[in-house]
Amino acid sequence: MTGFVQKTGFFMTNIAIFASGNGSNAENIISYFSGSSTIRVTLIVSNKEEAYVHTRAKALEIPSCTFSKAEFDGGVPVLDALRRYDIDFIVLAGFLLKVSQPLLDAFPGRILNIHPALLPKHGGKGMYGDRVHQAVVDAGDTESGITIHYINENYDEGDILFQATCDVLPTDSADDVAKKVHELEYLHFPEVIEKALKKAFPLSDGDR
Ligand code: GAR
Repeated sequence: MTGFVQKTGFFMTNIAIFASGNGSNAENIISYFSGSSTIRVTLIVSNKEEAYVHTRAKALEIPSCTFSKAEFDGGVPVLDALRRYDIDFIVLAGFLLKVSQPLLDAFPGRILNIHPALLPKHGGKGMYGDRVHQAVVDAGDTESGITIHYINENYDEGDILFQATCDVLPTDSADDVAKKVHELEYLHFPEVIEKALKKAFPLSDGDR
């Protein structure tokens, strides 16, 4: 645990959210923890300068930064930033790059991802956002949902922590499925993160 805040005597767990695009999940997670005295979102990290998540971060007064793919792959500049902000845990919320080995090594069991389908279906390289919902519709699936999982060195693998489902009707478009899936994400992702943090940092449990 790095983020010890002496002033209050509480352990503060610092989260970095990695996001490549819109950032509606990032904003929802920031809002959820905004009243917490023990958990906070301290940094937004992106691989896209123009991602709307930066605009959200600015409005919410959370620092945000961008790194190139090469910097993510090498790891050093990203790890420096994470150290500067005393980051304890990483949440991927619509982050489209594969997380490199140096980051995996620095945060073992401390990087959580959300995927907008029921893994192991409709996962893997190139499967993100609307492409996933279109694949669900094209496959004629009668349900979809969300998967929240720890990550490993492969896309959309790693231990699954939580899944929730929604119906897919024969008349549903990919947009319709996206709306249902987003609702599930907003409802469940922050609580699942909170539970994962309690598991990752059991010593600070009494302080929460
Ligand atoms: C979310 O639906 C998330 O599950 C998905 O991207 C969307 C980001 O939305 N992630 C992936 O597809 C990763 N494979 P947001 O930027 O509005 O939070």
